[in-house]
Amino acid sequence: MRILLLGGTGWLGRAIARSAAAAGHDVTCLARGVSGRAVDGLRFVRADRDEPDAYASVAGDRWDAVIDVSRQPGQVRSAVAALADVTERWAFVSTGNVYASHRRTGDDEDAPLLEPLEGDVMASMEEYGAAKVACERAVLDGLGARAVIARAGLIGGPGDESGRSGYWPWRFAHPSNRAGAVLVPEASLPTSLIDVRDLAGWLVGAVTDTPVSGVYDAIANRMGLAEHLAVARAVAGHAGPVEAVSDAWLNEREVAEWMGPRSLPLWLSDLDWHGFAGRRGERILARGFRPRPLAETLADTLAWEEARGVPGPHGAGLTDAEERSLLGALR
Ligand SMILES: NC(=O)c1ccc[n+]([C@@H]2O[C@H](COP(=O)([O-])OP(=O)(O)OC[C@H]3O[C@@H](n4cnc5c(N)ncnc54)[C@H](OP(=O)(O)O)[C@@H]3O)[C@@H](O)[C@H]2O)c1
Repeated sequence: MRILLLGGTGWLGRAIARSAAAAGHDVTCLARGVSGRAVDGLRFVRADRDEPDAYASVAGDRWDAVIDVSRQPGQVRSAVAALADVTERWAFVSTGNVYASHRRTGDDEDAPLLEPLEGDVMASMEEYGAAKVACERAVLDGLGARAVIARAGLIGGPGDESGRSGYWPWRFAHPSNRAGAVLVPEASLPTSLIDVRDLAGWLVGAVTDTPVSGVYDAIANRMGLAEHLAVARAVAGHAGPVEAVSDAWLNEREVAEWMGPRSLPLWLSDLDWHGFAGRRGERILARGFRPRPLAETLADTLAWEEARGVPGPHGAGLTDAEERSLLGALR
């Protein structure tokens, strides 16, 4: 089948392109080529979606499917206007951030959404959820039952530059101290991690072999944080002490939640976000989604981290010096 991928130079886009090509589809990627390179061997159309004639060189063709990863409402609106009539199906990558509340666990796709962003461009990540609501609306209004939307939770796997899926297996494999101790949050909150390759594979299938319509929370491996950390520890073969500390202790020492520098990835002390990774995620399973086990994702991510040849952590987590200092404060 002929697939037009709007994107294909970012991490997920490249995974989608590889997955579609591996399934034998004819893939064209459209992007500026700023985020990275498209997958070798695939047709690449260089275009800026913020320009009026962005789709001129692809709107004259017929497509079996368009797949879009954008987060800018203006880009999605213009793509739908230019391409809805020349494609059979449309897949859009959205996010769990579209929901109005993340406090409760166990919510499904019918939970209330944020108000859509009116403008064409989101000014900052503060507007990310509202921007994706506006994007979803443009796709559903323009394509109706020919559209499928995946509201992805945290995506992980090899290539995750954010470090959120890599930090824990890497840290357990590389303790910062001679005792081999690893500092972890004792918080009990749900986590979930969808492997980038599984999400890509499901999206491609959802617009080709087994067409799917509607909106799906795309989450996988939902479990408590302690269980996630136990899987990471087993994958890394860690046998040293595990030092669990409370939310209050971490907050007092200005350890960041979730991601970024001086953080403990996946940890959240803010109760308003405790449900983010704990959505039900049953609808996508009923539509053929078969995620690989978390241990496989974390083992592959650890192998990718190791292959970089630059000592971690990468993207998120505590440096060795930061972890040693915190462990020292604990004693
Ligand atoms: N990471 C997570 O845990 C997570 C969770 C939920 C949802 N998501 C979603 O997953 C997706 C991630 O996709 P990704 O990793 O492939 O890409 P990305 O890093 O979000 O980049 C977006 C893509 O759009 C292209 N693009 C941006 N501006 C453009 C323009 N003006 N004209 C043409 N193309 C443009 C970029 O290519 P060029 O820069 O080369 O033009 C790139 O290929 C996003 O939709 C994100 O919201 C991520």
